Amino acid sequence: SVYSIGALIIAYLFGSIPTAVWIGQAFYGIDVREYGSGNAGATNTFRVLGKKAGIPVMLIDIFKGWTATNLAFFIGLSVTGPEHSVQYVNYQLALGIVAVMGHLFPIFAGFRGGKGIATLFGMILAVHFPAALLCVLVFVIVLLLTKYVSLSSISAGFTFTFSVIFIYQVSVRAIVIYGMAICILILVTHQKNIERLLRGKESKVNLFKKKQI
Ligand code: G3P
Repeated sequence: SVYSIGALIIAYLFGSIPTAVWIGQAFYGIDVREYGSGNAGATNTFRVLGKKAGIPVMLIDIFKGWTATNLAFFIGLSVTGPEHSVQYVNYQLALGIVAVMGHLFPIFAGFRGGKGIATLFGMILAVHFPAALLCVLVFVIVLLLTKYVSLSSISAGFTFTFSVIFIYQVSVRAIVIYGMAICILILVTHQKNIERLLRGKESKVNLFKKKQI
């Protein structure tokens, strides 16, 4: 319907808000894409500008995904009956993924964005709260053990897909399809990170260092 198309466009525009680029430019006069990993995301903002910039970028990027996903409420208004809850998760996943695509290819920043982890997490928060907590747990454990944010992101993303299917047994076909798509998407966006991990060249987080520039 017109509502669905409208909501999908809004979700893309929300995801497109290039938080890392804008905060870097507005408060530090730099484009974070020219430093560190070159990624326009929370991790690279932490790396380049420290936590004062990194935390807001992370929170706003999570909020983008969460808000976009919750636009399902407006599409869902027109759907009633027993199909409603299944349909609802369908809409949520579609909107969340579109927001992530906005984050990866932001119309407001020359289509060069981030890797979508924070935005994806916002979607997961809205779709399945217990799975979101499990993702955080896995992220934190992997980060503490390895100090690699990318590996933590990949592990957490896979945790969503496998936990909703096998632990929480969400019986919505779309969740399997979107879940698989999410795993592939994460592997694609983290291709360079994976190459560096395999070569032992991936940068580790340093909790004590504030800035690199
Ligand atoms: O969320 C992105 C993270 O997994 C990797 O970011 O900047 O280290 O490539 P980065």
